[in-house]
Amino acid sequence: MELDPRIAGYSTSDESSFAYTSARDRWPSILQGAIADLFASSATLKDTEASAEAERIIEQFRELEAEIKSDGKLPPLWDDGSPDIADYNDELAQRNPTWLNVFWLFGECYLYRRIDTFFSRSVNWKGYDVFAQQKKSTCQSSKTAIVELAHRYKGIIDNPSPNHSELEALCFKEMCEICLWGNATDLSLLTSLTYEDIQKLQGSEARKAQEKNILVNDIPAAYNVLSEVRRERGTGGRVDIVLDNSGFELYVDLLLADYLLSTGLASRVILHPKSMPWFVSDVVPADLADLLLVLSEPESFFEEQNSKNSQNAGQTLTESEKTDLISLGKRWNAFQKSGQLILQENAFWTTAGSYWRLPHKAPGLFKGFQESDLVIFKGDLNYRKLTGDVQWDATTSYSKAIGPLGLGSGVRTLALRTCKADVVVGLAENQDEQVQREHGGNADPKARTWAWTGKWAVASFNDGKAI
Ligand code: F6P
Ligand code: MG
Repeated sequence: MELDPRIAGYSTSDESSFAYTSARDRWPSILQGAIADLFASSATLKDTEASAEAERIIEQFRELEAEIKSDGKLPPLWDDGSPDIADYNDELAQRNPTWLNVFWLFGECYLYRRIDTFFSRSVNWKGYDVFAQQKKSTCQSSKTAIVELAHRYKGIIDNPSPNHSELEALCFKEMCEICLWGNATDLSLLTSLTYEDIQKLQGSEARKAQEKNILVNDIPAAYNVLSEVRRERGTGGRVDIVLDNSGFELYVDLLLADYLLSTGLASRVILHPKSMPWFVSDVVPADLADLLLVLSEPESFFEEQNSKNSQNAGQTLTESEKTDLISLGKRWNAFQKSGQLILQENAFWTTAGSYWRLPHKAPGLFKGFQESDLVIFKGDLNYRKLTGDVQWDATTSYSKAIGPLGLGSGVRTLALRTCKADVVVGLAENQDEQVQREHGGNADPKARTWAWTGKWAVASFNDGKAI
């Protein structure tokens, strides 16, 4: 805590913060979703011990839900043998919070860490991902956009732009923006998305219309850096992507990784997943393996969705759509085999702290980032952690708000984030107020409701290597 910014954080007790709604409405509904998943999974089991254990886990979910609704205290986490538990419990003892009056970032991370203990302490449900079914079905609903992008991407790599050309810079920007808006499909926020909603969010028309909603767009600066590295060294550098959500977002992250490797803007891309189910939709290593499997047999995966969704019936993949998807899967497998695409786990990503703590708490990871030429942080939670999830004035510079990862840190960061929480920095004078008016004003002048919707985005770059 002593390493975090010395500014008040967003709290679940603050009516003008999205934290308030999150704790009261969304957390209980996420827990109910998890309970429904466990019921469904255990109903298919013949093993009576596993079923009985599922009932006990369901009971723990219910207790947790009741604790939240009654504004109970957050009890210490059960020790499941992992070293991070002690840090959680130390911080808990210092904060001594109740659910409806807790620093949002800490409370929310604690929630998912606590859920994981239900499974890690079980005998039959160890490693079970209670959000896997939701991730799978949203990925199936993303079929149209997945297919469309595979086709468009083929066009891009079949007609490579000359190095350092204006065309290449434009292409890079487009790839990053696809990657940015891929973050709009987040299961923890959009719990009630229909099939049609997902299509609208992901199509290329939607992206064009949204270009004006990128309030800060530093993507060209990131291109200049990577293109300069390639020019100087005669080969591309190292790029890290701190992943966010699985399914469609992971797919577009991999498209970006492919683009970087194919153009030589990078010679190595390191992906950073979570090591346990996290914020519902975040990528765990199994999600990457699953996506590669989907691409090797797209027909059977998307066929399942067709049978569930009558609107989609009869829309089987054409031969050329199948070929596009299968060839992407082959490329990504080959990149993995050759060591150009690497998945690297680290327990730091599921700790409760902000990234102001990164140099101290995960020095190895930090050193790796200093060696990297660009570290891309995807999504809202990463942005909250980068900025400490505290009440910065919106005109605070991004480099100041990311503290120890900012100027002089030796780390170059690009945050690609659709706004789904209160904190936002790097805006021009009065831009915050102007967007709030465009969003339709607000009864409570303190509430930054425009930033809760995922409709606006920021792409913020800081060059911590600049002298
Ligand atoms: O507010 C919705 C929320 O759960 C936030 O708590 C969190 O920051 C976000 O969703 C997760 O979004 P993302 O997947 O983009 O990190
Ligand atoms: Mg997420």
